[in-house]
Amino acid sequence: MSSTTSTSAGLTALQVMQDAPVIPVIVLNDVAHAVPMARALVAGGVRMLEVTLRTPQALACIEAIAREVPEAVVGAGTVRSRADAQSAARAGARFAVSPGYTSAVGQACRDVGLALLPGVATGSEIMMAQEDGFTELKFFPAMQAGGPGMLKAWSGPFFDVRFCPTGGVSLQNAAEFLALPNVVCVGGSWLVPADAMAAGDWARITQLAADTAALRK
Ligand code: 3PG
Repeated sequence: MSSTTSTSAGLTALQVMQDAPVIPVIVLNDVAHAVPMARALVAGGVRMLEVTLRTPQALACIEAIAREVPEAVVGAGTVRSRADAQSAARAGARFAVSPGYTSAVGQACRDVGLALLPGVATGSEIMMAQEDGFTELKFFPAMQAGGPGMLKAWSGPFFDVRFCPTGGVSLQNAAEFLALPNVVCVGGSWLVPADAMAAGDWARITQLAADTAALRK
């Protein structure tokens, strides 16, 4: 495999991570919510949007955002197989996030031109992802697997790896993660609460995005 995370589309995992202090993890159950939700996040200063492949509507939502919200960069989350990577790319996703790492998923994302943020929770998984050329990784589930202390411990042996901790991260603890030198951004679902989405409360989502975007890396 190649030695960088660059893709043929030119977007890299590092660019995805550096755009804002947060990558929102989004679960969409209704295609009608996709475009107003994406516009609400963009209005709050958050453009890199991870739509998880966890609902039957997810691919249609990615398609709608890619088509109608050019200011956003839509990616697919929960990518666990070659088929997931292929359908995400077909739908218009520009990056992928996976909850764990396999070489098959890494290669599939390269094949379809998706920048990949692979999920890791152990040293062995970091080493496998690094062997395949990935140096920007998602630490998942971050709080449950050791939190900021784990990232501090990894900064020794894995001095050349940068992380996006996700899982149990919130507006309250995000700053503690962002203060670490090996953290580029955080990920989390708190920007898009299910009740705000169901109520069409886009102003609340914009406010949550703005509050998070204001955190300094
Ligand atoms: C996930 O994949 O569910 C994310 O890591 C979100 O975790 P969170 O809901 O704790 O932010």
